[in-house]
Parts: sequence; structure tokens; C-alpha cells
Amino acid sequence: MSNVLILGANGSIARYAIDMFLNNTDAQLTLYLRNSRRLKDMDSNRVRVIEGDVLNLEQLKEAMMGKDVVYANLAGDLEKYAKNIVEAMDTTGVKRLIFIGSMGIYDEVPGEKYGSVLEPYRKSVAIIEASDLDYTILRPAWFTNKNEIDYETTQKGESFKGYEVSRKSVADLVVKLAVTPELEVRRSLGVNKPE
Ligand SMILES: NC(=O)c1ccc[n+]([C@@H]2O[C@H](COP(=O)([O-])OP(=O)(O)OC[C@H]3O[C@@H](n4cnc5c(N)ncnc54)[C@H](OP(=O)(O)O)[C@@H]3O)[C@@H](O)[C@H]2O)c1
Repeated sequence: MSNVLILGANGSIARYAIDMFLNNTDAQLTLYLRNSRRLKDMDSNRVRVIEGDVLNLEQLKEAMMGKDVVYANLAGDLEKYAKNIVEAMDTTGVKRLIFIGSMGIYDEVPGEKYGSVLEPYRKSVAIIEASDLDYTILRPAWFTNKNEIDYETTQKGESFKGYEVSRKSVADLVVKLAVTPELEVRRSLGVNKPE
């Protein structure tokens, strides 16, 4: 049974993932988010909620105690967030991290240069790759709300394929990674809907 800490638990992918964790696994979830009133009611004794900010390093460390997996579903000052996550994981001895980034950070999308909008993603991913954590970074294509699980992945160094992916697909991959400790460890995966 996995003990999973979800940072940014009200994010659009996280909300799909929480449903899938509860329906398809026996994982225990700790939902870490800035405003817990935004969460829908969850009638499960497998869910604990912490109102907290990833910028609060001490609170983050406390939330990580005893967890097997950290799943970061964040947007914003990702460079600072990544620094805090790595430091808190190093301190608490949690090794497994699943981190949502974005396609385009390695200029791996044929015909596209995303430039400075992706700087926070590039910097945060570089921090995680330089750590000795058992990370899996996801680089999803543009999200859709399609009710489908249909995706493929590409490794770092390969050209990105496709241009879109459903939120549900990304959440499916997150859940698989979170409950399978040896899956895609120290990898950075492009995630897209096959064309
Ligand atoms: N849209 C796309 O097509 C696309 C494609 C590829 C990648 N992405 C990226 O994938 C990532 C995940 O996407 P998403 O749609 O799930 O994101 P989202 O809905 O924007 O959720 C991000 C979450 O991060 C939380 N957050 C931000 N700063 C925080 C802090 N300091 N402490 C705690 N929580 C904090 C936010 O909380 P609050 O609710 O408190 O604001 C929000 O719930 C994002 O970085 C997104 O940009 C998006």
C-alpha cells in the first residue's frame, strides 16, 4: 500500500488522479493545497488534507514524513517549488517523486520553440534531474478534457510526438507510476495522444 503526498491537490490533473487512486488502488492520500475549501467533499478514510503552501519548507517537510511517493502537480514559481521539494525529500528520506512539467523544455517538439514561457519548467526540471531522487518527470502535450485514456510516451532525447493528451491520460500515468516504484525511475517522459 502506497502512501502518496499530492502537492497542488486541486490542480486539474490532480483531481482526476485522486479519483483514480481512490477507485483503482488502495493508496493512502495526503492532499496538500493552499485552500482546502476548493476541494470537493471526499468521503474516504484514505484521504487526509493539509492546508499548506509549497513555499513553506518546514510544513512541507512535516507533510512528507512517512510518505512513499510525492506527486507534484504545481504551477507558478516552479524553480522555488522544485528546490523546496528536493530539500524536503532529502531531509525526510522520501525518494520517489513524480513531477508534472511540460512538453518543449528540451526543444524536443519538432517545429516548435517555446522560448521563455517554459523557463520555470526548464529550471525546475534541471533541479530535479540534478538530485539523487527516484524521479519521473512528465512532459505532457496540450491538455484536453476528453473522456479517454489514450497515450504514449517518449523518452528524453527523443522527438516529441503528437500535440494533445487528455487530462485523464496524464492522471492514469501518474497513478501507475505512484503505485509501481520501479517504473520509469530517473526518466523524463513526453506524454501524448498517439496520432
Ligand atoms: N494546460 C496545458 O495544456 C498544459 C500542458 C502541459 C503542461 N501543463 C502544466 O502541467 C502542470 C499541471 O497542470 P494542471 O492543469 O493540473 O495545473 P493547475 O490546474 O494550474 O494546478 C496547479 C496547482 O498548483 C497549486 N499551487 C501553485 N502554487 C502553489 C504553492 N505555492 N503551494 C501549494 N500549491 C500551489 C495551485 O493551487 P491554488 O489552487 O491554490 O492556486 C493549483 O491547484 C502545470 O504546471 C501546467 O502548466 C499544462
